[in-house]
Amino acid sequence: MSYSNAFEELDKAQHDRGSFDCGEDELNDFIQTKASRHMLAGISRTFVLPADSPLPNGKRPICAFYSVTPSSIARENLPRALAKKLPHYPIPVFLIAQLAVHLDQKGQGLGKITLVKALEFLWSINAQMPAYAVVVDCLNQEAHDFYEHFGFEILCTHNGRTRMFLPMKTIGQIF
Ligand SMILES: CC(C)(COP(=O)(O)OP(=O)(O)OC[C@H]1O[C@@H](n2cnc3c(N)ncnc32)[C@H](O)[C@@H]1OP(=O)(O)O)[C@@H](O)C(=O)NCCC(=O)NCCS
Repeated sequence: MSYSNAFEELDKAQHDRGSFDCGEDELNDFIQTKASRHMLAGISRTFVLPADSPLPNGKRPICAFYSVTPSSIARENLPRALAKKLPHYPIPVFLIAQLAVHLDQKGQGLGKITLVKALEFLWSINAQMPAYAVVVDCLNQEAHDFYEHFGFEILCTHNGRTRMFLPMKTIGQIF
């Protein structure tokens, strides 16, 4: 399965959600049953990288995807040196709520491409409505190690998961 050259907003009429498998039930279930409903409800946006050719059902399989949404963090969770420059009310951030690569594509650089595309999208939103950082809630140690590899730092524990962050200023140095 080779992938097309651009991420597209999830469209259940065009993208085959059922064949997506990243090896994590929670993420598979999200893209198969929740992502589209969450977009309709106006609570997140999901972008997919489809394969370059369709299945017999006319839909293209999903090679990778990411979902993003606005969120906020408490000042107290940030390292003191960063926190002291910020107000005492909730700090706006963008959350990469989900990010995954199909097992068939794992270990071939697509996770990096997907993360860069998510950060690039959020950087463009930041130009219109700024946020302090991008945060992620790690599903497991693999996710933690992946995000750490790209400079994310531990922020706190959130709903039993390690929450990591990358300041928007750092992201601005990439783009
Ligand atoms: C985690 C995941 C997104 C990585 O995708 P991938 O396509 O296998 O990763 P890539 O091949 O793009 O790797 C990119 C870089 O990250 C590194 N990397 C990948 N997985 C890593 C891990 N678990 N720990 C540390 N580094 C990792 C690679 O060595 C590579 O480094 P390089 O750019 O210096 O060569 C993918 O395995 C996945 O979808 N897993 C299941 C879902 C999941 O856990 N998602 C995390 C968000 S909750």
